[in-house]
Amino acid sequence: MTRTLQAPHQISPKTHPAPDAMPSTSERFRLIAGSAHPELAREIAGQLDVPLASAYVGRFPDGEIDIKIQDDMRGTDVFICQPTCPPVNENIFELLLLIDTLRRASAGRITAVIPYFGYARKDRKDEGRVPISAKLVANTLVSAGCDRVLTIDLHAQQIQGFFDIPVDHLWARPVLEEAVRGAGLENLVVCSPDVGGVKLARAWAKSLDASLAIVDKRRTSSENVVMENVIGEVDGCDVLLTDDMISTGGTITQAARILKEKGANRVCIAVAHAVLCGPARERLAECPAEIIWVSNTIPLEGDLPPTLKTVSVAPLLARAVTRIHREESLSALFWDGGSS
Ligand code: R5P
Repeated sequence: MTRTLQAPHQISPKTHPAPDAMPSTSERFRLIAGSAHPELAREIAGQLDVPLASAYVGRFPDGEIDIKIQDDMRGTDVFICQPTCPPVNENIFELLLLIDTLRRASAGRITAVIPYFGYARKDRKDEGRVPISAKLVANTLVSAGCDRVLTIDLHAQQIQGFFDIPVDHLWARPVLEEAVRGAGLENLVVCSPDVGGVKLARAWAKSLDASLAIVDKRRTSSENVVMENVIGEVDGCDVLLTDDMISTGGTITQAARILKEKGANRVCIAVAHAVLCGPARERLAECPAEIIWVSNTIPLEGDLPPTLKTVSVAPLLARAVTRIHREESLSALFWDGGSS
């Protein structure tokens, strides 16, 4: 599939809606941080201008999780911020225990704010004798007493249907897009590193008025991929590679390489979740992309490649929390249609 490139143009900044008024501390509303990403929880609390609820999350000597919420939660609309990023099992179980604690403390409504939802890649039985892990995680959250989920860029949108409770699904793209628009990319092509990411790439391309390309990717193992062809014209163009996550970094790094081989000018990357496991940091350090924008749905610690730039989803989550608490529509947060 070859697409005709549009006339060279430079993408420009876009106007965003004014922020909503945040809940006042007098409202029966509380935000709790799990230990997966307290920094993001603090940022959301700062945006909302509310203190974080006082909760102790520790460990018993044998490693079991110990929890005590100090504040009265009776009848309160509670939001727990806990991405289920690595250590995935620890973070999921801690979230379950926080939900159980709140349910037994008679919280009015419990919303799990899961900026990154782990185990999402196992969303169907694609061969014999494998679990559907995403469904099991959804079931356990609901069984524990979760009333609602707020999440960002699920690996597969159909995971929303695994929950028999409301799921508010946000996109990091509008937040990342502000950074992308400031980078002065010209004659832009948005490229998906695989067929699965085409819908997201198309949404980016539509919003940035850019052409679309796709890399033909074959996964040979959980850490390795093979890429030989690019579908679409990238020669002489700036290219923005988009994806939902960087895990081991194999996909995005190889895609950036093949785009360069095919004559791309500047190559940049925009990704919602920086899981960065295994060889990811070394791979990204060698990646020919000029800038790698990621959101802060997952805490980033240690040595990071200088090309990695983080944009915060805290204002987006704060707006969503406010609207959920006030029973207002969240559609207004998708001023240009999410990823569709
Ligand atoms: C695949 O379907 C995903 O959208 C990502 O492309 C993939 O999970 C990235 O994994 P890695 O960084 O290990 O190549």
